[in-house]
Amino acid sequence: MKKGLFITFEGADGCGKTTQLKLAAEYLQKKGEIVLVTREPGAKGLGEKLRDILLNYDGVVSDRCEAFLFLADRAQHIDTIVTPAVESGKIVLCDRHIDSTVAYQGYGRGQDIEQINKLNMLATGNKKPDLTIVFDVDVETSMARVGAEKDRMESAGREFFNRVRFGYLEIAKQESERVRVLDATKSIEDVQKDVIKLIDSLF
Ligand code: TMP
Repeated sequence: MKKGLFITFEGADGCGKTTQLKLAAEYLQKKGEIVLVTREPGAKGLGEKLRDILLNYDGVVSDRCEAFLFLADRAQHIDTIVTPAVESGKIVLCDRHIDSTVAYQGYGRGQDIEQINKLNMLATGNKKPDLTIVFDVDVETSMARVGAEKDRMESAGREFFNRVRFGYLEIAKQESERVRVLDATKSIEDVQKDVIKLIDSLF
């Protein structure tokens, strides 16, 4: 049986990645591929409970605790959902993965990047996506798209999101083969064309 693919969609809140992920899934399904759409944190079951804590808990969450909760969700997600799907030949499109923890908990919260990288590899069993697309937008655009109703993470403020954006661009510089950056301030249709070019390059 042919092995599937694991493609992750990344970027700051409000970058438009979730819309693009849905469009990419439709495109691949039309081509006859079997697609699994999933997300971190909180694909299902235990993950959904972790997502609720991570986004809605209104007490104090220490930065290290936050990192470990995202990592716990990741380990569960990889083991129970992503790996079985890829091994059965599916194309897995995942909304956020390892690079979110580097960008948000590493660059954003200031946790040690090397340690986060190591913990990410512990959480995934040393696996990385075949392709990661970073949807790059300036902080003004991302904040405007998020709007007034913000969850716990989205409430972190402008400076935080500047660091997150910088973090994604640094990751892409260091892993330019796997991580590709798209200008996500363009129209949905134009961004979609860029996404399809990247995905098609994997076949
Ligand atoms: P979403 O709104 O794209 O579903 O993402 C949920 C939030 O969780 C978003 O603000 C980014 C944040 N996040 C992290 O801070 N670290 C992580 O490892 C992941 C996966 C998400």
